[in-house]
Amino acid sequence: MTADEQKKAAALAALDYVKPGMKLGLGTGSTANHFITALAEKVKAGLDVQCVATSRATFELGQSLGLKMVTLEQQPYLDITVDGADEFDDKFQLIKGGGGALLFEKIVATSSKYMIVIADQSKKVATLGKFPLPVEVVPFGVNATAWKLERALRICGLKGRLVMRLKDGRPFVTDGGNAIIDISLGAINDADRLGNLLSVTPGVVDHGLFIGICGIILMGTDDGVKTFKKA
Ligand code: 5RP
Repeated sequence: MTADEQKKAAALAALDYVKPGMKLGLGTGSTANHFITALAEKVKAGLDVQCVATSRATFELGQSLGLKMVTLEQQPYLDITVDGADEFDDKFQLIKGGGGALLFEKIVATSSKYMIVIADQSKKVATLGKFPLPVEVVPFGVNATAWKLERALRICGLKGRLVMRLKDGRPFVTDGGNAIIDISLGAINDADRLGNLLSVTPGVVDHGLFIGICGIILMGTDDGVKTFKKA
């Protein structure tokens, strides 16, 4: 099975958790897109759900496929959010934000009773950190925020390379109007501590560590979809 087939299999498995009348958070990225497409087929067949998007791209996709898209202002309490991830470990800790939607993804996921991650098997890691950690920052004083981030890393005993994310040669702009600094760390041994330190760094809007948010992971593999449920 290719990684994309595994993503699709995980996305289809997530449909089992969707019940009529639910309010759903829809993630961002190629795996979430498989889910959105499959969900739209169910909706065409009569399923009634309302959906909140985690990005402009997801909103547009959902709308184009005929999903009932509402805002988080209209529906602040959601049943489930289904989203992809860049990495996850056996403590249900995630790195997200490869697609740049981490802020809205975290807001939507934490507005849901539970978050389901759908992923191919390459996303499962023993220790988070091989994937560069995205940190969403306010554009004002970005170089000052960068040295404060380096200081936060040192406090955690970490060393990382900070790279300003670019798109077409210009700073990447998130849907929230911010910039992203990607930090290559290699391994994050205490993700909770790092996440807390990043959260209190002035200039940081949010970071891609999702700790204590995800309850179920559906991972596509060559032997079918494996389900991990948090106790
Ligand atoms: C977007 C994300 C995505 O969920 C993550 O990048 C995974 O993407 P894909 O499903 O395309 O592999 O966090 O901000």
